[in-house]
Amino acid sequence: SSDLSTSELARKYFYDYYPDEKMPIFTNPCHDEMLMNLWNGNRSMCRIFPQFLIVGPQKTGTTALYSMLSQHPDLHPSKKNFITYEELQFFSNNTIYLNGINWYLDQFDSDNIVSEWSMNFEKSATYFDSILAMKRIKALLPNIRLIMILTEPGARAYSRYQHEIARTNQTINFDDLLQLNHNHSSNQFHLKERCLQPGHYAEYLRQWLNYFPSKQIYIIDGDAFRYDPRTILNDIQIRFLQLKNPINSSKLVKFNRKKDFFCPISNKNHFQCLGNSKGRHYEKMSSYSREYLNNYYLLHNQKLIQFLRNNNYSLPLWLIFFNRTQL
Ligand code: A3P
Repeated sequence: SSDLSTSELARKYFYDYYPDEKMPIFTNPCHDEMLMNLWNGNRSMCRIFPQFLIVGPQKTGTTALYSMLSQHPDLHPSKKNFITYEELQFFSNNTIYLNGINWYLDQFDSDNIVSEWSMNFEKSATYFDSILAMKRIKALLPNIRLIMILTEPGARAYSRYQHEIARTNQTINFDDLLQLNHNHSSNQFHLKERCLQPGHYAEYLRQWLNYFPSKQIYIIDGDAFRYDPRTILNDIQIRFLQLKNPINSSKLVKFNRKKDFFCPISNKNHFQCLGNSKGRHYEKMSSYSREYLNNYYLLHNQKLIQFLRNNNYSLPLWLIFFNRTQL
């Protein structure tokens, strides 16, 4: 009503009626003349926006893919930072998102865009299971190409657990973690959720497809990628990104016996293997955990098979194997 002051009115609007609107959503000034006039940037900056994103999920080989593609002279990753390292996490983290569009563009080296066919890109594995990230990416980068990697979700959960144990002082063992329910200490239960939740692949993929057409989404079989990334790297360059100068992947990666993985190769022909936190050595999970995870992901994996078939994606090998054991 007209009795309210502007600030009271704003309070009513954002707190009582439309709390969802408290966070802004950035659309792209390069696609809208009116916004372009209001923006404190200019049209030449439009080329800095990334052309593709590696969106995760975490622990599926996203860093390896990021480093391998970075070896291509036309593909330029975002600059590293001290907090989230090679990840920007712009679309999934509210505080970072509020830094705004110009901040986002600052994370890319504008000098890199030397040729018409150069592409900036970023990888943030936190995007995959964030509905907010999907919405925000769609608003800012509606034509973006997206890459995601799917590994067997039980192994992914265990890898995530190993990652948390290695970098924090938590000591709980994996069998005990899986038995926790929401009555237990919230920290530990939260850890269990973080291990299991991103593996609900079908649910998240369905959401992504609500925002983006399937031709913009490339799905990698994570186990195939881990054992030999070469065919996948060629296919991404040629078919998905349609690079002007694709490089034969045997020049981008080579198998390293010591690391026991394929490693990126620098232009001086040196191995650039990932650090010790990628490709950790840990004992096999117990048969209890394996069975728990098989049951836990049973319906999720069945839904994933349906989903991938309905959308003309091929099934990852681990899912074909899962399907056979169901018969
Ligand atoms: P583990 O350390 O559990 O084996 P992300 O970078 O998304 O966090 O994924 C980490 C996982 O990438 C590692 O999990 C490892 O298995 C996998 N990976 C796949 N290809 C790799 C490679 N070429 N070098 C190192 N790790 C790789």
